[in-house]
Amino acid sequence: SSIYRQGVLGRRPVVPADFAELERRARRASSARAWAYVAGGAGEGRTMRRNREAFGRWAIVPRMASGAVDRDLSVRLLGARHGTPLLLAPVGAGALMGADSDVKIARAAAATGTTYVFSNQGCNPMEECAAAMGDASRWFQLYWSKDEGLVDSLIARAEAAGAGALVVTLDTTVLGWRPQDLNLGSLPFSRGEGIAQYTSDPRFREIAAARPAQPAGEVTLGAIRTLLAMTRNHPGGFWNNLRSPAPRASVETFLDIYSNPGLSWDHLATLRDRTRLPVVLKGILHPDDARRAFDLGADAVVVSNHGGRQIDNAIASLDALVTIRDALGPDPVLLFDSGIRTGADVFTALALGANAVLLGRPYMYGLALAGQRGVEDVITNVVAELDLTMALAGTPDIAAITRSALAAA
Ligand code: FNR
Repeated sequence: SSIYRQGVLGRRPVVPADFAELERRARRASSARAWAYVAGGAGEGRTMRRNREAFGRWAIVPRMASGAVDRDLSVRLLGARHGTPLLLAPVGAGALMGADSDVKIARAAAATGTTYVFSNQGCNPMEECAAAMGDASRWFQLYWSKDEGLVDSLIARAEAAGAGALVVTLDTTVLGWRPQDLNLGSLPFSRGEGIAQYTSDPRFREIAAARPAQPAGEVTLGAIRTLLAMTRNHPGGFWNNLRSPAPRASVETFLDIYSNPGLSWDHLATLRDRTRLPVVLKGILHPDDARRAFDLGADAVVVSNHGGRQIDNAIASLDALVTIRDALGPDPVLLFDSGIRTGADVFTALALGANAVLLGRPYMYGLALAGQRGVEDVITNVVAELDLTMALAGTPDIAAITRSALAAA
């Protein structure tokens, strides 16, 4: 209600209160290259659209006169109390939106009491983000590297940086088909955005140093052919890539090893003995995969299709949530992301069985508009709308939000 009060008293918000306008203004404030990467999705964009359409198939049924003046939005997750059921999803290559993006997001997360999941593809080393957060809650997201030593090194750093959980993302063993980026021909990471966790890592440096040296400035015919093919429609993109100021060897080492396309459940079975942190597996969409994750000792899974960025024409993440909750019963901890835009969406996902949700693009749009303050305001708006929705739906706390609060739309 304080947001309404401020509005009535004439204070203009820093970011628009509705997602459509937030998106429009963020687009205007971003470079074409940043927008293609952050807002883009896989293929024809069908998964991304379907993520949104799935919310439209459910309607919230308001309930009257619950008698509760205040709502309790807190949840217990993996042994810790969280002020709200909203977390910030790991988002890589934030440098596209400006310098030190991750530190700004970290500050906004700390200021609003929201857990921030540091991306393995971050633009600031996790230690810098942790230092900016004081005691505030953070988790670390890992991509399983081809190099097992790097996996261990990143886990050890996450533990030392005070991460409350280790989130291993399974759905990006190879990068999805992303036409918006490919058409621009100036691919994210080509200038080293999003490799700070790697270049700050002792094991990664060892690997980079051992890599056969490429004579400085040498451009092979093969590399030129690839670049030309990637940038056929955008000749400017060719030069952008060629003139990359990023240390080439680091970027190439990163591309070689950041992910293991051969990732299997056998790799994941080793996790339990490699960290004392709660383990969360992200990118699960099939109930059998969810079962397998819990059988291996995972503490939670994130039902997610990576914001529709990996497979085109994939199942909506919200539909997968329903199937997985039905298959696994009430106890396993299911987090959810992909398509959350508003507080009403958070309510719907919780009613369909999510214990908490992660927000992706919306907070990046707040960042594009107004830096740390923009991220804070996006979080505050989503949480405020969730709180109002709970008030009007007669649900005084998160546990009260169940499927009976919904009807088929
Ligand atoms: C992501 N996502 C992601 N996930 C992850 O595990 N590691 C990462 O580094 C990234 N990077 C990343 C970059 C960008 C620009 C986006 C938009 C997304 C996926 C992210 O964690 C989350 O699953 C989705 O963003 C959720 O969907 P919405 O909220 O964007 O619809």
